[in-house]
Amino acid sequence: MNVDEIIGSIVAKKLSNKKYGRYDVMKDFGLTEWIARKHLNSANLIITNDLKKKVANGLIELTPEMEAEIAQKETEIETLQSDINKQFEGAKIVTDTALTKGNTDLDMQVNARLLALHDSILDLPFGAEEENLPKPVIIGCKRPLFLSDIHFPYHDFKALQLAIEYGIKNHTDCIYLNGDIIDAYQQSRFNKDADSRNFQTELNMVRTFFSMLRKVFPDIPIYYKLGNHELRHELYISQNRGVLGIEEFQLEYLLHLRQYNITLVEGRQWARFGDLFVFHGHEGGSFLKGGVNAAQNTAKLLQKNAVIGHIHKTQSYLFHTPFGTCAQVNYTGCLSNINPRYVGLGNYNLGFAFAVIDENGKSNVSNIVIENNNGTYSLRIAV
Ligand SMILES: [Fe+2]
Repeated sequence: MNVDEIIGSIVAKKLSNKKYGRYDVMKDFGLTEWIARKHLNSANLIITNDLKKKVANGLIELTPEMEAEIAQKETEIETLQSDINKQFEGAKIVTDTALTKGNTDLDMQVNARLLALHDSILDLPFGAEEENLPKPVIIGCKRPLFLSDIHFPYHDFKALQLAIEYGIKNHTDCIYLNGDIIDAYQQSRFNKDADSRNFQTELNMVRTFFSMLRKVFPDIPIYYKLGNHELRHELYISQNRGVLGIEEFQLEYLLHLRQYNITLVEGRQWARFGDLFVFHGHEGGSFLKGGVNAAQNTAKLLQKNAVIGHIHKTQSYLFHTPFGTCAQVNYTGCLSNINPRYVGLGNYNLGFAFAVIDENGKSNVSNIVIENNNGTYSLRIAV
């Protein structure tokens, strides 16, 4: 089967439900109108032949309506085919003339080149499907609580407790675990201490955390977004071909997400609550910016309201234009040790975020800092 025949048969299958037309073919296969028509033509031919075969084999009996449909399709096909042949024939003559050296008719050249492109574009293979970004997750909840960078087993117990208490007191209707929930220390490509906690310990802690969350919030949606630390596991699996593709080795399975009715959000996927975009922060190097002015830089580039984790620092920036407020970007603090061994004394801070989404989808984010002064914890709403 050549590419034309393959697409023709796919289109034929879709066409048989009678809800598929030229524009769907163009959209689905990324084709020009001209090529889409060519495929519809061959698809119609496949359908007609299929119908004829069924009749010949005694599988179906032709009703007058079916006969009329076949006749109509055959006329359509004939007309389209002769139309296509004429145009391609014309195109070849035009192409040959137009692209002859010395021809100065620019319009003619453009038309000839376009026709030549239409005629030969299918010789190019389609782009790899896996390169497409997964669709964003649109969540209808109105009072999401965002917890990120817990980094089990390096979590800050008290900070985590305070963040969840805040969610309870503010009637949260959704918990969004915004990445780096597990540290996956042993799967890091960086040097490791032999005495540090193993992956099983980390998994057990996360499962205990889920069990606690489900006791407190038995029936609200909970999402688990894969951050860069979770991707350590994916990378590890991808480098060990023996376990590739085995469900039991996937993080979703190891973390018992289905058991706790927790929805996975993939590493390259993002979520949206109304007008609020949610990223872990590792997804797009070109517009999610770290550094001292992370929120400011991101707001200018992204120009959307956002909640982002990843940098372990609370930052909010309101981006104004002369015509009004354009966007508010909120980087949230972490819920893990703020002076990890690999950083030493850093400027990380504890924190989380909570949002209220109104009936028009407009978000209002509280970006909350948790202060720890010698073991005395308190909350401060940064924005
Ligand atoms: Fe993190």
